[in-house]
Amino acid sequence: MRVPDCICRDVSLARYSTLCIGGRADYFTETIDPALTADAQLVEACEFARDNNLDIFTLGQGSNVLFGDAGFRGLVLHIAANGWISWRDGQLWVDAGSYVSTLVNLGVSSGLTGFESFAGLPGTVGGAVYGNAGCYGAEFWDMVEEVIFFDGVYVQNKTKDPDMFRYRWSLLKDNPQWIILAARLAVRPESKDVVAQKTRKTRQVRSSNQPKTRSAGCIFKNPVLGGERVSAGALIDRVGLKGAQVGRAMISEEHGNFFVNLGGATAADFIKLIALAKGRVLGEYGVLLEEEIVEVGEF
Ligand code: EPU
Repeated sequence: MRVPDCICRDVSLARYSTLCIGGRADYFTETIDPALTADAQLVEACEFARDNNLDIFTLGQGSNVLFGDAGFRGLVLHIAANGWISWRDGQLWVDAGSYVSTLVNLGVSSGLTGFESFAGLPGTVGGAVYGNAGCYGAEFWDMVEEVIFFDGVYVQNKTKDPDMFRYRWSLLKDNPQWIILAARLAVRPESKDVVAQKTRKTRQVRSSNQPKTRSAGCIFKNPVLGGERVSAGALIDRVGLKGAQVGRAMISEEHGNFFVNLGGATAADFIKLIALAKGRVLGEYGVLLEEEIVEVGEF
């Protein structure tokens, strides 16, 4: 098998996840996301994967993934930020590799409202679109108008319609071979002071009950119980699991839906802790928690 120059072999994934956990990827490439088109490197990497029957995993900031200890036998496509943000005809276009935090800062510095609820949220625009990230009453798809993606052969676009997203889900999740390149977002002008104040408020609330140590954000989606969506963290808290530990993985004392790496935790520690929380919540509340994090590779 001829491996193109743009692809590295045997790359440790731990440094690409906010949990700092993971074995090695057989193949790894980092593309500076070309935003509205698929550049030669992206095309070549996808062709290589197709010709060799390799799975592709598209990676952003790694803030919502748990890589297995035994690594990943396919190709990891790391979409790095190119910082491309552009106004076109009164619309904001951003590349998939841009950090959500860059948009939050842009909102404050330029007086644009829409991003305030995402202050303090790690991750890239591609990840937020893919998983319909949400916090403090807002969902990322509230702002999305159009998504540009590469399907491995062609660059395509989809304009928003109501069937494309719901709580913590987007159409992209059903089509993991689509590589998000860019999004068009609807934002409105607002007084800089108002945006700054809302952004500050979000940061304060977030830091009051979410841990700052190594985590992957919320592990589980909030389940529906008695007809309404309830906090998985509150359920895990109520069954008395805050502080529970397996190896070097621990359920945060601050928020029951955050599991933290105390340093040296393995994916296996996390999987056991996830099973513990699921089992206990199922036993006491009759509801099966579903992972929000994406588990990738071999465990
Ligand atoms: N609560 C507890 N104990 C806990 C955690 C929460 O009693 O351990 C209570 C809180 O006191 C509050 C309620 O549960 O009364 C809701 O808590 P919170 O505001 O933290 O919201 P959440 O439903 O637990 C969701 C999102 C978070 C997002 C927050 C803030 C999901 C899975 N989680 O959490 O998103 O930051 O709302 O809006 O929907 C993420 O997806 O990674 C994430 C962190």
